[in-house]
Amino acid sequence: MARSVTGRLIWLFSCILGGFAPCHAEIRETSVWWLPRNVNMFGHEIDFIFYVILWLTGVTAVAVFSVMIYFIVKYRAKPGVPAIHSHGNNALEVIWTTIPVFIFLALAIYGNEQWTQMRLRTPPAEALPVAVVGEQFGWNVRYPGPDGKLAKMSAEKVSKENPFGIDPADPDGRDDFTTYGELVFPVGRPVRLYLSSKDVIHAFYVPEFRLYQDMVPGRVYDFVWFKAEATGHFQLACNQLCGQGHYKMFGKLSVVPETEYEAWAKGKAPATTARTKDSRSTPVALAGR
Ligand code: CUA
Repeated sequence: MARSVTGRLIWLFSCILGGFAPCHAEIRETSVWWLPRNVNMFGHEIDFIFYVILWLTGVTAVAVFSVMIYFIVKYRAKPGVPAIHSHGNNALEVIWTTIPVFIFLALAIYGNEQWTQMRLRTPPAEALPVAVVGEQFGWNVRYPGPDGKLAKMSAEKVSKENPFGIDPADPDGRDDFTTYGELVFPVGRPVRLYLSSKDVIHAFYVPEFRLYQDMVPGRVYDFVWFKAEATGHFQLACNQLCGQGHYKMFGKLSVVPETEYEAWAKGKAPATTARTKDSRSTPVALAGR
């Protein structure tokens, strides 16, 4: 029997969704319909303020709409009943203006304090420095070698051939290694990011870290840091519409035990090369060695 148009559409969408389901599950391990799980130490406060605001506005919305619908029905036009003209109630106005003012002030003060903790405090000295430079359409990533130090980045030096804007003679950079779109972080250790962009505005966004930071060309952002509290595989997604390939600008991000991180880092060659968009098969020389 021939299917109806609706039946065909449902069948088609089921196939499409069915096809996407496995890759979706890989990106988002749990909680597909709600917030992804949080693995960053700063994420708890962000989730807390999110739920506070959600409950405040949710309860208010239900209360306001319930009263409104009740009054609309109760005081609807009836034959023979004249309309009452009301000038309002000053005491009520003052009360329902004052309460939200204090709620907003409390949210602003709490939010500001959390922001200060996350972005304005100096990252811990033992933090692992990692540089991430966005480009159309991928991520250049630079890790420190055994010396634990990253070559100094300067936004003025960033170019196609030198995505990290480093001085090739910088001794701290001799043992650095780079990856393209592959990020591995040790669990339980602070990580300090050095973010920049080669071309247009990109954004470093990891929902599971509750971490979002725009990357504007001409600047190096050195104040973003986090500490992952659990291991797992996540996706680094660019969150600024940066061109035709924006949709595919993602990186593979893993949080692993420290020993596993050490083993991974050891297996990476020092940064004598850097991959750029035009040179994936033939890496160009970066740090002179
Ligand atoms: Cu880079 Cu969108």
